[in-house]
Amino acid sequence: MRTQVAIIGAGPAGLLLAHLLYKAGVECVILERRDRAYVESRIRAGILEQVTVDLLRQVGVHDRMDREGLPHGGFALSADGELTRIDMAALTSKSVMVYGQTEVTRDLIDAAIARGIPLLFEAEDVALHDVTSARPVVTWRQDGEEKRLEADFIAGCDGFHGVARASIPADVLRTFERVYPFGWLGVLADVPPCDHELIYASHERGFALASMRSNTRSRYYVQVANSEKLGDWSDERFWDELCVRLGPDAASRVTRGPSIEKSIAPLRSFVAEPMRHGNLFLAGDAAHIVPPTGAKGLNLAATDVAYLAEGLAGFYRGDSSGIDAYSARALARVWKAERFSWWFTSLMHRFPDTDAFGRRMQMAELGYLRGSPAAQRVLAENYVGLPLH
Ligand code: APR
Ligand code: PHB
Repeated sequence: MRTQVAIIGAGPAGLLLAHLLYKAGVECVILERRDRAYVESRIRAGILEQVTVDLLRQVGVHDRMDREGLPHGGFALSADGELTRIDMAALTSKSVMVYGQTEVTRDLIDAAIARGIPLLFEAEDVALHDVTSARPVVTWRQDGEEKRLEADFIAGCDGFHGVARASIPADVLRTFERVYPFGWLGVLADVPPCDHELIYASHERGFALASMRSNTRSRYYVQVANSEKLGDWSDERFWDELCVRLGPDAASRVTRGPSIEKSIAPLRSFVAEPMRHGNLFLAGDAAHIVPPTGAKGLNLAATDVAYLAEGLAGFYRGDSSGIDAYSARALARVWKAERFSWWFTSLMHRFPDTDAFGRRMQMAELGYLRGSPAAQRVLAENYVGLPLH
């Protein structure tokens, strides 16, 4: 087999890249390790920046998002129960779209199949070869048969645990990491949300987040120590802890119900540089991870592939400047989002080694945010997403 761009991974990065290339008339093949049902079952965050919404509209995969998505012009901070609304629409003239990553992935897969974009599921043991040559090759096993794909370029969109980043030599790759001493215990439940917007709560006992997937499906999180075991968290214990941390006002509006999904996710900040090695490009979680506090993971994947698709389309028009600038351009945006996600996580969570002074600093910053339109605008413009260009 031969193509112009071999894409490893059918998550948001790989799928959106495929559609952007399709719109630019660039051929690609997507190789995905898991089966379709698994990929479409993964529960992930659900906040789309305006830039991501625009990209989905640009590739024509927005109909269900426009029907079922919830535009949000603000969110609330809760500090020991006192709520402060951050009016993003007034502060930035922008909003975000609440629409689950699961739904984005399903829409992108449906559209890829409808468009005839080659999307191969259950591609086993994908391996990259000769990535610094003019003819990189991808091999894998499918239905027991050895397969081979020659391409001009390989896009490593295979997530944090993929093979693409591992194909960059250790003496070339530089990594930067911060592992947080806690995780998020998340619950999905078919109950109405406790508020019409998200609530990020800082409490003596730890962070909590009230989010949603629709007006009938809620997504809640509480910060837990890395030593916590999922089996020790009954639904009742979760609801009790959530209500304490959200404070009495929000808690009075929480509707309890059976969890339909419950999991603990670790939090880390991670960046790999460079995001290009020869004719291999990294995009999305393959290159970087953010703590979910700022809801940047999906949105960074989207802007990575927007830059990459622009560069690849330019190459086939005879202009290599876009692919040559890709790594520096993507990393400039990645690091700004990493900083925001780290700052917001540091502000809202309880760290085991935070002493009394550290807690006062957190409360002072939350108090400053409560009273300062300037401070709120900085938070709002990072949350809605910085401009793509
Ligand atoms: N070969 C082929 N496919 C692979 C391999 C491999 N060796 N390893 C991983 N994959 C696939 C995974 O099964 C997954 O479907 O690559 C895809 C990577 O998707 P994501 O992990 O979702 O990463 P990305 O597309 O960059 O999207 C980032 O997803 O995980 C969330 O929080 C993250 O919101 C962020 C977003
Ligand atoms: C979610 O709805 O899953 C969600 C929302 C906002 C975040 C993180 C997760 O910051």
